[in-house]
Amino acid sequence: MSGALELSKMLLNTVAQPAYDVYNGMVTIVSARGNQTTSGANDTSKLVTLELTTEDIQFYMTLKLIWAFAICFVGLGTAFTVLYYMYVLFFVPYERVKRLGSIGYLNHEAGQPSKKEIANLIRKRRKIGEDLPPVYPNGWFRLVDSLQLKKGEVKEVSAIGQHFAVFRTQTGKAHILDAYCPHMGGNLGVGGQVKGECLECPFHGWVFSGKGECVKIPYSEKVPSFAKTKSWPSREVNGAVFVWYHCDGVEPEWELPVVEDIANGNCNYLGRVEHHVNTHIQDLPENGSDQAHLSHLHVPNALSGNDLSTQFSSSWNFAQHIFKAYSKGSDEDTPHISKFDLTHYLLIFNRWRFLQMFFKVYQIGPGCVHLHFTSLLWKGVFVQTVTPLEPLHQVITHNLYGGWTVPLWLGRIFLFLEAVQVDRDVMIWNNKTFRPRPKLVKEDNLIAKYRRWFAQFYTENSPRLQMKTEDDASW
Ligand code: FES
Ligand SMILES: [Fe+2]
Repeated sequence: MSGALELSKMLLNTVAQPAYDVYNGMVTIVSARGNQTTSGANDTSKLVTLELTTEDIQFYMTLKLIWAFAICFVGLGTAFTVLYYMYVLFFVPYERVKRLGSIGYLNHEAGQPSKKEIANLIRKRRKIGEDLPPVYPNGWFRLVDSLQLKKGEVKEVSAIGQHFAVFRTQTGKAHILDAYCPHMGGNLGVGGQVKGECLECPFHGWVFSGKGECVKIPYSEKVPSFAKTKSWPSREVNGAVFVWYHCDGVEPEWELPVVEDIANGNCNYLGRVEHHVNTHIQDLPENGSDQAHLSHLHVPNALSGNDLSTQFSSSWNFAQHIFKAYSKGSDEDTPHISKFDLTHYLLIFNRWRFLQMFFKVYQIGPGCVHLHFTSLLWKGVFVQTVTPLEPLHQVITHNLYGGWTVPLWLGRIFLFLEAVQVDRDVMIWNNKTFRPRPKLVKEDNLIAKYRRWFAQFYTENSPRLQMKTEDDASW
């Protein structure tokens, strides 16, 4: 192979075309030339002796081709990757979803538990607390974001102890029906077909309007009056489809306020963050009135991460979040809305203030919060929702909107910083118990006030958690 080695040098030092010539018939020439030990007047310094076989030449031609392909591949791959991330950064709204079990179970021995272990853990933790408040308060709850429901699309959503078929008609109106068909129980949300303004059951083809009336039975001459299903009160507002839930079937007692800038398209959707958490719904909005936790849990800056066991490390102390909340109570005509102001800044080296922001916060019923903020750079609004998917399984969403001049990459950074702070809450919620009579000090007084306010969303028949026996706890 010494000749092959020499040829490889020649091939690697030559341009592509001559190399192909060698491959396609010049083998003998090269070989003969080598055997003749050629030298010439213009080439006296080079004596080339090559003992080559066809396989040698093919082998090194292949090597050279692979080398060329590898360079092209890496170059193109790098270019496409950079372009893709630039595209995402500048043109795609942020999307981050953390499912149940992905945050907050980090401290278990033997590392991250398996999915089955997490499932059992979650089931066991559903027995948290005594005198747990009812698990499904009355109010408006988000089922899907508007962007997640296209025209002609249907989704099955299980939440608040119910099963819903949420669909959008061909003209764009969203409706919510009971998922189970009154005929023989087919699930309208799984395989149901939107037909114009109606929804067709996938089992035998009965067709229902958004009001729940059956308008067609394909194999029957008549549609009897009993052929109807439950239509749930719904509103599509502030970028999401909400359902009204009341344990006694009472019609909506109040409305969700419309954020004008979202409704009239004056602001830009910047992205969303979603967390699933294993806790009682009351724990989530209670955060707003729990000022003491703002000055402890949320102080370390986002770079210190979301793991409670390491986030308080002093190496991150150079930058700290400082929050202050001021309760403003409720107005007489809107007792279902609790208001408070919140200020924030990032304190660097205990001296300089950055990212100063002012929030006007409106907790609207048990399942929705609007956080309107202003800062030097820009202003915007977070629409936060909480929906109980199961008694102690909540889904929290934060959707961010800003002015049209606010670039998506800025929203992305902002949402990420917010998400890290929520991650910390999630880790607390996933592991805490519910204290019906917490030992509060004077400075905690807003928490007691908040609990009295929240109690208005429970009525006598609000469902409570059925405690399970120890044997039920394993799957
Ligand atoms: S179960 Fe829906 S049409 Fe029969
Ligand atoms: Fe918090």
